[in-house]
Amino acid sequence: MESGGLKVYPYQSYEVYGLSRNPFEQLASEGIKDVESIHVYQEIDMRLQMIVSEVIGNRSSIALSIIGPLGMGKTQRLKTIAKAIEEHRGKALYVKVDTHDILKLTRDIFYAIKPPKSRTNIFLENLSRKLGFIDRLEKMLSDTQEYKSRDIAELLTEQMSRFPYCAILLDELENMQGASEKEKIQFFEMLRHFISNMPEGCIVAFACIPEVYEEYTKIFPAFFMRLHYEFKLRPMSLDEAYELVKKRLNRVRVKDTDDPLYPFTEDAVRLIHRLGRGNPRQTLRLLHYVLTEAAKHRFDPIDDFVVTTILEEPKSLDEYLTRIPKEYKDLVKAIVFEFNGGPASYIQIAKVVKKPGVQVYESLNELVRLGFLVGDPGGNYKVPDYVRKFLEEGQGQKEEY
Ligand SMILES: Nc1ncnc2c1ncn2[C@@H]1O[C@H](COP(=O)(O)OP(=O)(O)OP(=O)(O)O)[C@@H](O)[C@H]1O
Ligand SMILES: [Mg+2]
Repeated sequence: MESGGLKVYPYQSYEVYGLSRNPFEQLASEGIKDVESIHVYQEIDMRLQMIVSEVIGNRSSIALSIIGPLGMGKTQRLKTIAKAIEEHRGKALYVKVDTHDILKLTRDIFYAIKPPKSRTNIFLENLSRKLGFIDRLEKMLSDTQEYKSRDIAELLTEQMSRFPYCAILLDELENMQGASEKEKIQFFEMLRHFISNMPEGCIVAFACIPEVYEEYTKIFPAFFMRLHYEFKLRPMSLDEAYELVKKRLNRVRVKDTDDPLYPFTEDAVRLIHRLGRGNPRQTLRLLHYVLTEAAKHRFDPIDDFVVTTILEEPKSLDEYLTRIPKEYKDLVKAIVFEFNGGPASYIQIAKVVKKPGVQVYESLNELVRLGFLVGDPGGNYKVPDYVRKFLEEGQGQKEEY
């Protein structure tokens, strides 16, 4: 909405489609609990499953990287590894890199080891403090001059060896880009030592966007050569996009249907997949928007024509007016031609169209909900900005209506 005030719109219903809600709203893996129910399996997932089996079954130790542009499913994969390790009573450290301060980052990794404090833990902590573990660590993390990559790695190995299985999962490694070259080397050197000396049954995995990953590999080839696997995520195929849509819809269906894509047609999904370039998050974002808009207008089914109508802004004033539902056309025309696009109050508009104020008021709010008009807290209505542009370009000459 354009105006500052908060406006509460009527509850959006997906009942028309037999859906309890819009299933495409979650665009990041972080908030999704049962990832399996919505995950679309690609080759990388089979390989990851094999790696996890190898680690659990043979107590192998494996280091890998997952590289892919924003929204391509990196976090979702790391979360899957974490879950598998935890299901086998292992310890998975999932750390989202949110700093280029290697001292903080290293501290975040160690802090992730500690389970919530219980009496025993406090006891152990005191014990290890006595043994000097925390003191040694804190000293090395007090200043980058003190950062001893090898010693820190050894402390980490020591801590992780206590678990039957373990994983260190570093997400969004690109956020470390701002560290100085020296610091990056110190940090990767620490990881290199850890990997050379991994506990049994351990997975080290990190996720990064391609541009930054390449930069890192140049600075520190010795580290990256040590990785057992490098997975580059690829866009989803059309078939995978169908599956994505089916799985997400399936979770919110309250009415049975023979067509698992319903309310979307195959053509609609094909178009959205193309517009989203096979990127899962882009595709989900478009699906979310199209479903929201389609539900408002009760378009049923949602075919490629509906998708085009929703995603494309009208290119002219005529096109805009054509899209307005008939019963409201006189109101919008009044705003456009009598008030030059507005703002105008519902009373002013009601006078022009010669209809009862209450009815006009309700219709105007419906038009706002449909996205054809913008309302403000003062109770005025106007056309959206893209329509105003047409008016400024001189298309808004008064005509008969
Ligand atoms: N293979 C897949 N199957 C189903 N959904 C997927 C798949 N890959 C990604 N998604 C969905 O796409 C969205 C983005 O995924 P995710 O957050 O894992 O991407 P990311 O690469 O970590 O993004 P960022 O770089 O922004 O951190 C999520 O909603 C996730 O559920
Ligand atoms: Mg992510």
